[in-house]
Amino acid sequence: MTDETFARPDYGPSGAGAVRFFEGFPECLPEEVAAKWQCVVDTIAVLLGVPAGLIMHVRDEKIEVAVASSGGSHPYHVGDSEHLAESGLYCETVVCTGDRLLVADALADELWKDNPDVKFGMIAYLGFPIHWPDGRPFGTLCALDTKPNHFGQIFERLLIQFRDLIEQDLAMLCESLSLTQRLTQEREEARNAASAARAELATAAKLSVIGQLAGSIVHEIGQPLASIRLHAAAALSWLERDPSQLDEAITSIQQLRVAVDDAFELVASLRAQARRVPAAMKSLELNEIVSKVVVLARRDLSSMGVHCELHLDKKGTCLQGDRLQIEQLIMNLVQNAGRALQRVSDRPRRVRVSTTAGAEGWTLVVEDNGPGIEPAIAGMIFEPLFTTEETGLGLGLSICKSIVEGHHGTICVEERDTGPGARFRIALPIKNWVQTIDSLCGEAAAEE
Ligand SMILES: Nc1ncnc2c1ncn2[C@@H]1O[C@H](COP(=O)(O)OP(=O)(O)OP(=O)(O)O)[C@@H](O)[C@H]1O
Ligand SMILES: [Mg+2]
Repeated sequence: MTDETFARPDYGPSGAGAVRFFEGFPECLPEEVAAKWQCVVDTIAVLLGVPAGLIMHVRDEKIEVAVASSGGSHPYHVGDSEHLAESGLYCETVVCTGDRLLVADALADELWKDNPDVKFGMIAYLGFPIHWPDGRPFGTLCALDTKPNHFGQIFERLLIQFRDLIEQDLAMLCESLSLTQRLTQEREEARNAASAARAELATAAKLSVIGQLAGSIVHEIGQPLASIRLHAAAALSWLERDPSQLDEAITSIQQLRVAVDDAFELVASLRAQARRVPAAMKSLELNEIVSKVVVLARRDLSSMGVHCELHLDKKGTCLQGDRLQIEQLIMNLVQNAGRALQRVSDRPRRVRVSTTAGAEGWTLVVEDNGPGIEPAIAGMIFEPLFTTEETGLGLGLSICKSIVEGHHGTICVEERDTGPGARFRIALPIKNWVQTIDSLCGEAAAEE
């Protein structure tokens, strides 16, 4: 044998996951595999008529007894180990050469007569290397005898068969290990992805709430501010006259105070919204609210070259609702129409606001003869933050939708059948909260 033949292999510990799995070997060996290997060495001992059949395992630069045949008398116990390098053991040669070794009579062989197993009386040896699936040495499968033994080809073939069986088990164990590791990793990845998605959802939900609230502030505060500006300007102009028109100025200042009260009420309503307090439902007259908002909006609309028509149902409709929210709803739709109409220059710019009382409830329609809404975006315009406007926040319609839903109604956009433009239709059910003025008046009269 040459030095090259004895070149020391990499005994491990290996970096391979499978070998790491077997750091606790043979304790971690699945029971059925351990039983099978025990059966292998027992069969070897019986068939070959030898005292010892062994599976040896290389670990941490040592070689140890992994499985020993039961029944016959031999000195080997599971867990016994020796330092492998230069141990002089039969198995060292098998592991180092990666080849089978047959020593028929060590006492008659110069090379083997002093090897450590001789002192146990084991003078005959037949061993084969066992390898991990990646080719690293796992250990040996061997038979030892206390008397000279040439074993013979049939027994050699038998040991090879058993060795192959063990290597198949190792391959299967490694495969199931890597499968387990892959599954664990995939589960971990899936868990991480799920928690990332949840975090994203939570952020999106927060953004939506923050966005809606910010939008509400921007839109709703604008309305009382416009009123305040209007009445302050009027009061000033009455005072600047010569002589000053004190009565008129006082009236304007009183209206200004009403607008300031509105702003306070609005802030309180926003705070309630932020705390998810339901809208403050009170008996309201819809036509009155629509008129008020349209009068207010007309100033801005006319400066934008837009004419605003108002068509109110003569019957009048009383409803249970949050006044500020309903005002906000109408104002948002009218402002959207005014802005859309800025793109129209070939026809008079018109907005039409109408109310209709029906058996099912009341309908509010805000329509314009602007460019209308592209079918491609019609499904998105009620989403928070969706806008096609450079200066838009994309919150007006999402706020409208939540206000309408808060009042148990529906809002939709339709194409106009009389020409280009957009038509927003709000339907609110009569049930629970809408009553005609007549019936309310009837109730009031009965109470009196
Ligand atoms: N009357 C309309 N005509 C044409 N397009 C409209 C009309 N109303 C709304 N839209 C479209 O719907 C989009 C969303 O409207 P929304 O009121 O929610 O947001 P915005 O007007 O863009 O911004 P913000 O209201 O926050 O100032 C608009 O950007 C616009 O593209
Ligand atoms: Mg808008």
